[in-house]
Amino acid sequence: MSDLYLLNLQFLPATASDYDEVMSISGGIHDGVDYLPFRYHEWLAEPQRRMFVARSEEKVVAFASFLLVDGGVTAVLQGLRVAPWMRGRGIAREIQKFCFNTLRTNHPGVTKIRETVEENVPPSLLSKSRLLHSKAVVSVFLPNDHLEKTTQLLSCRLLSVYQGRPPVPQSLSKVLRLLDDPRTAEDLFPKGVLIQDLLPLTTHKCNIELLARWGIAWVYSKPSDLLTNPIEGANSSSISNLSEHSTLSCTSSGFLSLSTPPFPVPLEKGVYRLNIDLFGSNPSFAQAHILHHVTEAVRVLPPGGSIVCFVFAEETLRKPVMHYLHGMAPFPAYRELLMLERTLEA
Ligand SMILES: CC(C)(COP(=O)(O)OP(=O)(O)OC[C@H]1O[C@@H](n2cnc3c(N)ncnc32)[C@H](O)[C@@H]1OP(=O)(O)O)[C@@H](O)C(=O)NCCC(=O)NCCS
Repeated sequence: MSDLYLLNLQFLPATASDYDEVMSISGGIHDGVDYLPFRYHEWLAEPQRRMFVARSEEKVVAFASFLLVDGGVTAVLQGLRVAPWMRGRGIAREIQKFCFNTLRTNHPGVTKIRETVEENVPPSLLSKSRLLHSKAVVSVFLPNDHLEKTTQLLSCRLLSVYQGRPPVPQSLSKVLRLLDDPRTAEDLFPKGVLIQDLLPLTTHKCNIELLARWGIAWVYSKPSDLLTNPIEGANSSSISNLSEHSTLSCTSSGFLSLSTPPFPVPLEKGVYRLNIDLFGSNPSFAQAHILHHVTEAVRVLPPGGSIVCFVFAEETLRKPVMHYLHGMAPFPAYRELLMLERTLEA
């Protein structure tokens, strides 16, 4: 029998002063590259977000949050966690129930719950959700003393397969225009969904505007930017692999990508996480965009910083991305990011 009632759980809005306690239940989460320590205070200031803690005997034992998106019809769950010593007793289920009841009472327009999860979630969660999309995840560790060498290597590898124009920052209106064309939208965002910095969104105009309000800049390559021209005589096996992958698919829609400035993570002092989200299917563009974001990240990185770089891309790009990042230290994390959705029952 469950001992949940003995815990006398209390659910309360999370506050700035709960920070230390929330961090005290977060040790080791997400392989040491947890985003919450850095995002917590930013999240508190977001008008479309609600954050909650569960307390038992006055101590924080769980945290959860939701963000209203899609113009207020969907709530995205993020940051769920339960104190390690309290897991397996139904607390995650209870704090989520509390979030759902809050949504029903305070946000009656919400009909859907969405979240991104790693591939190894419990079957019970998968069985009550629809899988909207999944993205391949490739992650590498770039230590500070290798950063210069890494960007040089990535530039050389790119030159061997791609002699087109570099990707350029794109205005909000241009991105919205791209999405107006149904074929381009489908090519770039299969099933009308996009994942930015682990946040699962639809391509609804208000979500694109939300990203712009947060200052997140799109980078774009138009189809005519691509002039595939591998260096004659390139003969190393990794270069020929890249060339082979770069001709696998051509695109009529160009390529979009996003990244956020690298942010510190608990793994170790001086380690920063960089999330690169790729949208499109062309391997050469994918490489050009990765180089763009890594170079930008290195440019703004505090002195002495190292990077854990996560690339999120369509599954067809997994191999080309892995070849491009070949030789860099793999960062052991998950392989796939699933975008799940369920109905919020009335
Ligand atoms: C995952 C975690 C929150 C589960 O906490 P818990 O209190 O042990 O979980 P419970 O005893 O309530 O049982 C698991 C319940 O949580 C749900 N759950 C597990 N992982 C989940 C996830 N990622 N998202 C939503 N629900 C999840 C399960 O579906 C199950 O509910 P159900 O029986 O109604 O289907 C906990 O192990 C944890 O804090 N892990 C580290 C952080 C983490 O991985 N968070 C999840 C993604 S951000």
